[in-house]
Amino acid sequence: MAVNQSKGRNLRVATELNELRQARCQLANPLGLVPTMGFLHLGHLSLVEAARRENASVAVSIFVNPTQFGPQEDLATYPRDLPRDLNLLEKAGVDLVWTPTPEIMYPEGYQTWVTVERISQPLEGAMRPGHFRGVATVVAKLFNALQPQKAYFGQKDAQQAAVIRRMALDLNFPLDIVICPTVREADGLAMSSRNAYLNHEQRRAAAVLYRSLQQAQALYDSGERNAEALRRVMRQIIEAEPLAKLQYVSCADLLSLQELEGEISGQALLSMAVFIGKTRLIDNLILE
Ligand code: PAF
Repeated sequence: MAVNQSKGRNLRVATELNELRQARCQLANPLGLVPTMGFLHLGHLSLVEAARRENASVAVSIFVNPTQFGPQEDLATYPRDLPRDLNLLEKAGVDLVWTPTPEIMYPEGYQTWVTVERISQPLEGAMRPGHFRGVATVVAKLFNALQPQKAYFGQKDAQQAAVIRRMALDLNFPLDIVICPTVREADGLAMSSRNAYLNHEQRRAAAVLYRSLQQAQALYDSGERNAEALRRVMRQIIEAEPLAKLQYVSCADLLSLQELEGEISGQALLSMAVFIGKTRLIDNLILE
């Protein structure tokens, strides 16, 4: 196990499961866990900050989880920079980082999966078959290995947050799931490790996601309650951006994530997935 003592705090880095368990035993409760796939940005660091504020110790996992990527997706090219990540986490006052390998997470003979049913099916689940099975499985394994009292996720992945909340409830994990606000660049682009794929022109074009959400919010604020009218305005704005290729726009019930038709009465989730070049970006906003 690596221990870095240069900044006053001890950041422990564990890879093997037995090292991890040993290090976990030495951490004070409550423990806040921030699961990540690395290549950290300010969005991740805001989760770490929240965990730091609300817990006696903080653990972060860094694992690019192969089982949540489809065969045509970007597993091989997903950005990675462990030394930079560890440096950021040390400065952020994290106590323990777990960096398992795929062989540790999924050893030969592995055959146990967590499937969250209805809420995994629409939206991202429909576009990325098997994605939430991979997410729920790895997050359940992280919860079991680290035994946190709280776990922190970003609102940017709204459906992921809902799936994990459901799983934690259904499988009686004794912990709180904390969802933190999306952190945005100055032009509104939601922070994401995948933003690193964008070239200069694509990066400019990527601001269209948030712009379309803001326009739909403005329409809602002016009294529009028809779900299709809100989807239409988002669609029009995204389709007007030449570098953007819309995959879906949605106006769904916030709890069930089922698509809304007609008038919106309760809380709704506006969301979308858009390709900018080969980079697939998602974003969302809650209509209160
Ligand atoms: O949001 C992510 O980075 C991943 O889906 C997560 C929750 C770390 C599981 O691999």
